[in-house]
Amino acid sequence: MGISNTFDVDYFRNLFPYFRSAAKTICLDGVGGTQVPDTVIEAISDYFANKNGNKGGIFPRSVKTDVLMDQTREIIAEFINVKDPNEVILGNSFTNLTFNMSRAMAKTWKPGDEVIVSRLDHDANVSPWVAAAEDAGATVRHFDIDEVTCQLTEENLRKILSDKTKIVAFCAASSSVGTRPDVKRLAQVAKEAGALVYVDAVAYAPHARIDAQEWGVDFIGCSTYKFFGPHLSFLWGKRELLESLPAYKIRPAPNTLPLKWLNGAQTYELAAGAKAAIEYIAHVGEKNSAFRSQFPQFTGRQLDIHAGMAAIEAHEEQLTWKFIDEMKKRPQYAMWGITEKELAGQRVPTIAVSRDGEQSTDMAKYLAEKGIDIWSRSVYSISLSERLGLENTGGFIRVGFIHYNTNEEVDTLLKALDDYKPASRPTVVRGASVTAPTKEA
Ligand SMILES: Cc1ncc(COP(=O)(O)O)c(C=O)c1O
Repeated sequence: MGISNTFDVDYFRNLFPYFRSAAKTICLDGVGGTQVPDTVIEAISDYFANKNGNKGGIFPRSVKTDVLMDQTREIIAEFINVKDPNEVILGNSFTNLTFNMSRAMAKTWKPGDEVIVSRLDHDANVSPWVAAAEDAGATVRHFDIDEVTCQLTEENLRKILSDKTKIVAFCAASSSVGTRPDVKRLAQVAKEAGALVYVDAVAYAPHARIDAQEWGVDFIGCSTYKFFGPHLSFLWGKRELLESLPAYKIRPAPNTLPLKWLNGAQTYELAAGAKAAIEYIAHVGEKNSAFRSQFPQFTGRQLDIHAGMAAIEAHEEQLTWKFIDEMKKRPQYAMWGITEKELAGQRVPTIAVSRDGEQSTDMAKYLAEKGIDIWSRSVYSISLSERLGLENTGGFIRVGFIHYNTNEEVDTLLKALDDYKPASRPTVVRGASVTAPTKEA
């Protein structure tokens, strides 16, 4: 994508206070959460300074809060391309929203029903469904990955799908190895069998456009702290499902959407920040207007949001493949998941890197000392670590590029990895204790 060369990363970095600070480090920890621009901080502060009041009242601050909540749902609806903002439920985390929804859904299941969870997913999209299945006496089936690509394939889904399947829960992108399943195709297959489709887009949302209509799924969950906003999440679901499913709610809570699904007062100040985060993405689109032509179906702010995400994706793709191609020249390191460029569209810029005999925590500590912030291990994608046999080994570091990362930062990381001096220490491999050989970099 030639257009990506015009991405002015310095301009965008300058909108983030962290990157202007003297203490700045190289942020490759984006998979755990991103930095936020000034406008997000200002929106949260403005809410407290000028609007702070509980919703539903007739006095001005309360009315402003109601308006803010409506506007936040509207911009989220544009971000994921759905028509009805009242299908958007805000909550404090994806995990929490998924526990809520799975418990409600379990009330409609019976013994003999089946629930599918994936080996690729973060546990936030696994354990809630397993617990709900247990409550209902339903059976859990595991959607396996392709071992080489760490991809969720249609073939593997078909092996476990049946007319007993009530729901298929899987991710739009892995937060460990970056694999990006074909959501649209998997959803088609699941729906042909009559199952509902619940997509965890938490690790996907910072990197590419979400289009709920194109995906054809029933639910999409996201967390705004992963895409330049505050620690807040949302769950979108189809109106007929949100209306018919039996929500756990208190008696005074109305049965109308979205109130039926909101448990108590909302974090209005964070909603202000979430709205500002998506406005920031629209600003990325404004500044990269060449991408607008890809989306004739959109106009106005929604067009800018989707153009912004397309510009982000193009810039990140270039960083990703520069890093992967360079890493291929360093056989002392292994990368997990998709590393072939022809499959570029099947990954986001989250790259799992391991080194034989090395603890990823040691590697991350070494990198932190060099001013490179990075996550090690992947304790929350526990099914995947188990499946890849990484639970008892050193695990991997997770290089998470975000659009504010630069080519120079990729070079700095490569140089640091080249300079890494491996430790020689006992390493536990699949339950057995062995001594890792010392290797020089
Ligand atoms: C893919 C994925 N799903 C779910 C979660 C959990 O999100 P939350 O912290 O909003 O519960 C994470 C957090 O890292 C994640 O990466």
